[in-house]
Amino acid sequence: MNTIVRPRILVARAIFPEVMDKLTQHFDVEANPADDLWPRDELLRRLQGKQGVFTTGGERIDAALLKACPELRICANMAVGYNNFDLAAMTAAGVLGTNAPDVLTETTADMGFALLMAAARRVTEGEHFLRAGKWDRWAYDMLIGQDVHGATLGILGMGRIGRAIARRGALGFGMPVIYHNRSRLPAEEEAEVGARYVSKEELLKTADHLVLVVPYSAESHHSIGAAELALMKPSATLINIGRGGVVDDAALAQALREGRIAAAGLDVFEGEPKVHPDLLACSNVVLTPHIGSATVPTRKAMANLAADNLIGYLTQGKPLTPLNPEVIPA
Ligand code: GLV
Repeated sequence: MNTIVRPRILVARAIFPEVMDKLTQHFDVEANPADDLWPRDELLRRLQGKQGVFTTGGERIDAALLKACPELRICANMAVGYNNFDLAAMTAAGVLGTNAPDVLTETTADMGFALLMAAARRVTEGEHFLRAGKWDRWAYDMLIGQDVHGATLGILGMGRIGRAIARRGALGFGMPVIYHNRSRLPAEEEAEVGARYVSKEELLKTADHLVLVVPYSAESHHSIGAAELALMKPSATLINIGRGGVVDDAALAQALREGRIAAAGLDVFEGEPKVHPDLLACSNVVLTPHIGSATVPTRKAMANLAADNLIGYLTQGKPLTPLNPEVIPA
């Protein structure tokens, strides 16, 4: 009698039950229903004998881990960002990485706008003021902020999410949109999203609201620090929905404290889930716990895409969104 050996996978964090059901139809699955944060040695131990792993962006996959897990063939991230992967080491070890692009673009762009509007119009500050019982009269300058409609929207990082933000600003809010990116968009794409390419310096000096959608890398580390913040308008708003570490959080807290920029909205932080104490002490910053993609349909779509990458690769050699397709056997 032939025994069919099913691939073995590890699902590193708790995920939707229906996605788990789908995975168990194809694989022997070791799961983490308690959603424990496994220390690295425990992750390594649980990865022994597994051909695939479902990661969520927090699990570091590097050369040492790959060396200790020689059976591993694919790491499927339930995130568009993959700075938890050492992709060069994965390629050298012949291990495929996949991410979850596209399905979260519009949802994350919505979050960028939510933070922009909340910061510019002082929404959370107003709520704290009201809940603290401080609202006892009308005043001409009570919680006055900055306009969003018609103001100049700056975007640093013009990938899929940057373009979705540009469309919202140009079409929905009548904003002139300027952007800076490593590479300039083709003219027809600039026209389609209504954005004009400028230098980083002009972006910083001209934007009324600046949205950062830059992936983290050694190159993008502290792209916005004290020198860049000093170029911005005192009335400007800074929004970060990309990755922590792109902004120097200590320098930003100082700029906010000293009123060198008006406000900020942050969904991502250096060293998260820890948040710099100086940011926590500033009232002119809206802080959210990395929830840019956190809607029911989008999180389900991301989880399904990561699962379908595992199923596609381990059962047919065909992943949907490979990051290093060169490792796929011909
Ligand atoms: C979230 O930050 C993601 O990269 O998907």
